[in-house]
Amino acid sequence: MDKIEYSKVDSRLSGDSEEPLLTQRPSLKERIPFENILIAGLLCSNVLFLLLWVRVTTTDCVRPQLIYTPAKHAISYQTKRLFRHINHNVFTGKPRPEYEEAWRKLVEPIAIKVSNKELAKFGQNSIAFKDGSGYVVELQVYHELHCIKQIRRHLHLDYYNVTLSDYDKQFEERHIDHCLEYWREQAICRGDTTLTAMLWNVSLPVSHSYSDNECVDWEAIDTWARSRMVNMSDTSMLDESGPLPEDQ
Ligand SMILES: *[C@@H]1O[C@H](CO)[C@@H](O)[C@H](O)[C@H]1NC(C)=O
Ligand SMILES: *[C@@H]1O[C@H](CO)[C@@H](O)[C@H](O)[C@H]1NC(C)=O
Ligand SMILES: *[C@@H]1O[C@H](CO)[C@@H](O)[C@H](O)[C@H]1NC(C)=O
Repeated sequence: MDKIEYSKVDSRLSGDSEEPLLTQRPSLKERIPFENILIAGLLCSNVLFLLLWVRVTTTDCVRPQLIYTPAKHAISYQTKRLFRHINHNVFTGKPRPEYEEAWRKLVEPIAIKVSNKELAKFGQNSIAFKDGSGYVVELQVYHELHCIKQIRRHLHLDYYNVTLSDYDKQFEERHIDHCLEYWREQAICRGDTTLTAMLWNVSLPVSHSYSDNECVDWEAIDTWARSRMVNMSDTSMLDESGPLPEDQ
């Protein structure tokens, strides 16, 4: 193997030094053009910084955006008191027609359409529409809601008059396990650090059932999702050629 010799370079030139470059001041004649360039450079970087700052503060940059989502413009935050009422709530309690309808409607836009450009920004492949107009993807908040709906259904299988074969029973159990794990990971992912106050209930410290939270404007997200909703009960418009599990 060839031996590579590293010679110590002048730290002023290598940029390693924390000393400013101008500690050895050149003569006045040399200094003026250099300082002009420096000042012009600093000015340019200030203008650039200002432009970027204006851009950042005027777009709806409300999340870090480490991961791309085409829904970012539909995200805005508001404070909301969450009550967790279980009485007089269409989403809670025993299954009944209005409960069924409310849950069906809630999870409806789970599959949405994104454009070719949006999928490219997302960076993963997905199932294409045959007509080349875009791709179908899932919006995660709706998958979470779907999972809660499935867990609720599991608690009331008798209501649905479901008789499961051994195979179906195994499938059902795995699905519920998946849903609970999906939910656990999402909760840890969000890491909601909102505080809940506590109080004495007789002699037991308990937390309040309500809390004030920083919530997305759900109407805005739901409206956005519904504007791109894909009805997956008919998959004939989708390109069957892939991707397949081995492509992932
Ligand atoms: C379950 O069966 C009962 C009795 O046949 C019926 O009244 C009820 O509507 C069924 N429930 C559902 C959700 O289909
Ligand atoms: C206090 O405890 C009682 C009895 O367990 C319960 O019914 C009630 O809902 C509790 N109240 C609060 C605010 O937690
Ligand atoms: C999806 O399509 C099916 C039949 O093709 C229809 O019954 C259902 O109402 C549609 N759902 C929505 C949300 O449009």
